[in-house]
Amino acid sequence: MITIIGNGKMALAIAKGLNGEVEVVGRNENKLKEFCEKSGAKKYYLLNDFDITNKTIILATKPYALELLSLKGKAKEIISIMAGKKIEEIGKYIESEIYSRAMPNVGAVNQASTTAIFGSDTAYDIFSKIGTAIKVNSEKELDIATAIAGSGPAFLALVAEAIADGGVLCGMSREMSYEFTKGLFKSFASLDEKPVNIKDSVMSPAGTTATGIEKLEENGVRNSFIKAIKGAYEKSQKI
Ligand SMILES: NC(=O)c1ccc[n+]([C@@H]2O[C@H](COP(=O)([O-])OP(=O)(O)OC[C@H]3O[C@@H](n4cnc5c(N)ncnc54)[C@H](OP(=O)(O)O)[C@@H]3O)[C@@H](O)[C@H]2O)c1
Repeated sequence: MITIIGNGKMALAIAKGLNGEVEVVGRNENKLKEFCEKSGAKKYYLLNDFDITNKTIILATKPYALELLSLKGKAKEIISIMAGKKIEEIGKYIESEIYSRAMPNVGAVNQASTTAIFGSDTAYDIFSKIGTAIKVNSEKELDIATAIAGSGPAFLALVAEAIADGGVLCGMSREMSYEFTKGLFKSFASLDEKPVNIKDSVMSPAGTTATGIEKLEENGVRNSFIKAIKGAYEKSQKI
């Protein structure tokens, strides 16, 4: 059975994706009981001196908690979902035969995460159950994926809010503007095309879309997003 250390949002999403076939470890008994009710997790344990010997563990606490965890024994495998924490550092605090990292995103709550995996096939198989898992070749790539797919939902939320605000500015009701914006994201997600092909197919000469693109470029929208990804990646190196 998989053991999840941590009982927060991500831990819950993963436990649900694994149909409750997990045990959970945390520091607050009431939260652990609630976690088991919501996820169907079979057992819970308190964190203090929890013995990880021969267990396959998903490490899902906050990154700063790594050095505060008091675990004993040597795990079979540690799969960390902590943003930014490198395997070398995890190894200083937790003993394991195998170390992997996985970086899911908030889509996990709907079993629709896009998850970067650096490490084992076990990690890949687990995270394939809560959406799409993509293997990367290095921890650097995993941290870049964190900026794209992990932070990305917040960046897109900002875009969605601004588009809806634009609709309101033009005179549409807030509710309807949000409805169209939501539809736009669904429609976009259905297109399995290179971004440039989508843009070119919509942008006709001297048309409305071309005018909109001109306004976006005037305000450096592309450069803003490139810098956002770079900034988020660089920040992940300082956690
Ligand atoms: N949210 C995302 O979109 C996302 C995406 C990818 C990766 N992650 C990573 O997933 C991990 C969990 O994120 P989350 O969104 O699930 O956060 P969360 O809902 O706030 O849960 C955090 C968990 O960490 C535990 N924790 C915090 N400090 C602790 C300590 N000192 N000792 C022991 N446990 C401690 C909390 O325990 P209590 O409940 O007892 O406070 C809770 O179980 C983070 O490392 C984050 O980087 C998150």
